[in-house]
Amino acid sequence: MVACTLAVLSQKGGAGKSTVALALAVAHECAGGRAAVIDLDVQQGTAAAWGRLREQPRPPVSATLPQRLRQVLEALRSDGANLVVIDGPPRERAGGAEAARFADLVLVPCRPAAPDLIAIAPTLDLARSSGARAAVVLNACPARGQWTSQATDALQQLDAELCPVTLGARIAHAKAFMAGQTAQETEPNSPAAAEVAALYGWLETST
Ligand SMILES: Nc1ncnc2c1ncn2[C@@H]1O[C@H](COP(=O)(O)OP(=O)(O)OP(=O)(O)O)[C@@H](O)[C@H]1O
Ligand SMILES: [Mg+2]
Repeated sequence: MVACTLAVLSQKGGAGKSTVALALAVAHECAGGRAAVIDLDVQQGTAAAWGRLREQPRPPVSATLPQRLRQVLEALRSDGANLVVIDGPPRERAGGAEAARFADLVLVPCRPAAPDLIAIAPTLDLARSSGARAAVVLNACPARGQWTSQATDALQQLDAELCPVTLGARIAHAKAFMAGQTAQETEPNSPAAAEVAALYGWLETST
């Protein structure tokens, strides 16, 4: 059973932080664990909005300013959460750094395209300077073309730890969001659900 604080961070907007954070929190609940989500992106409030759309009470989503992160983490832990997933803000460096400071693992979603790969260095630096382990997960990978293999090569040049699981470009994620759910819940037999399960499986073996 996974038991850790996971920060899903990327300075790049739209990389898939909120999608990955919510998917992993729900995967943990599906596996019988107790998850909690911290929405550190108070400005956009994506995870908090998902929490409001959601009919099920679990996992709880708390919108939190970076200054209160320690207290909120302690409260969630004493409430029994064994996986706390922090959905980080884009661009805002201080919030990301604070999240990385408390994280056992920083997971960095990255689309397999040049603008995203160029933008990844500051996020990896942020994680490294906080002393956190960081791993990149390629997200929204097109089914065709050399995008994923070329991105893998580029990330190897950067000496980044690369998650062996990649997530494809799957509309199921956005559809599930509208119902306050994740693809594992709305389309359990979909490729999107299988990829999230594989990502959670990797998390289980690597933390
Ligand atoms: N694997 C995927 N397949 C298809 N669409 C995806 C995938 N991952 C994310 N998306 C879509 O891309 C958009 C951005 O995703 P998301 O909100 O998770 O990114 P983010 O990094 O949290 O963005 P921000 O930086 O604005 O917080 C959303 O519409 C989401 O549904
Ligand atoms: Mg987001």
